[in-house]
Amino acid sequence: MRKPVIAIDGYSSTGKSSISKVIAERLGLVHMDTGALYRGITYFALQNCLNESGEIDLPLLFSKLNEVHLEFSELENELVLLLNGKDVSKEIRSNEVSSQVSLIACQKEVRDFLMETQRSIAAKGGVIMDGRDIGTVVLPNADYKFFLTASIEERTKRRFLELQGLGMPSEEHEVRHNLITRDKIDSERSVAPLKQADDAILIDNSDLTKLETIDLILSFIKDF
Ligand code: C5P
Repeated sequence: MRKPVIAIDGYSSTGKSSISKVIAERLGLVHMDTGALYRGITYFALQNCLNESGEIDLPLLFSKLNEVHLEFSELENELVLLLNGKDVSKEIRSNEVSSQVSLIACQKEVRDFLMETQRSIAAKGGVIMDGRDIGTVVLPNADYKFFLTASIEERTKRRFLELQGLGMPSEEHEVRHNLITRDKIDSERSVAPLKQADDAILIDNSDLTKLETIDLILSFIKDF
């Protein structure tokens, strides 16, 4: 039986990736966290493309994109992101990357570069991909599309706890500011903005646990 192609989009810290990971395991799908790819390029830029003022030099980054190789690999039962062969899964969650990633993700050159990686994985079928433009741009013909939202208070709490768990403590007001800023830049950019696809199912999980959100999504998936 053919396996479904599922697109999960939504605001920052609505649980898209952790939810998608569990659904992938339950349905035997490949999971792709596309936010990790944008974070991977941002990390690369911070390491290799700073100008004298310490800012990311965009033309330099564009000229070096052909030196960037990103892939997901399984390490001790966890899916990790390899940047040119090195595991950068923890580094890409840093506050520095979080504060720059939306500016990098606005760039058409960067989005075009990552489009190929994303579509080639989906072409094999049986995939759940989460991000901001999956249902609208990357996989407009996905079998199922979901758009996740939650209150800013709840999302701040989730990201704050996630960062604590990673040993990267931060101030709650900074986390909240970062989420609001990223959502604004992501929604207002001209290329592939964050928005709900017309045919996506909207889920507000402010008052749902992760497992309840997973069960709700699974309740829509039929015939596979
Ligand atoms: O999902 P995550 O919060 O890790 O994504 C980090 C950033 O990557 C987002 O705030 C957004 O700027 C960018 N992104 C994007 N398109 C995607 C996935 C992520 O622009 N499909």
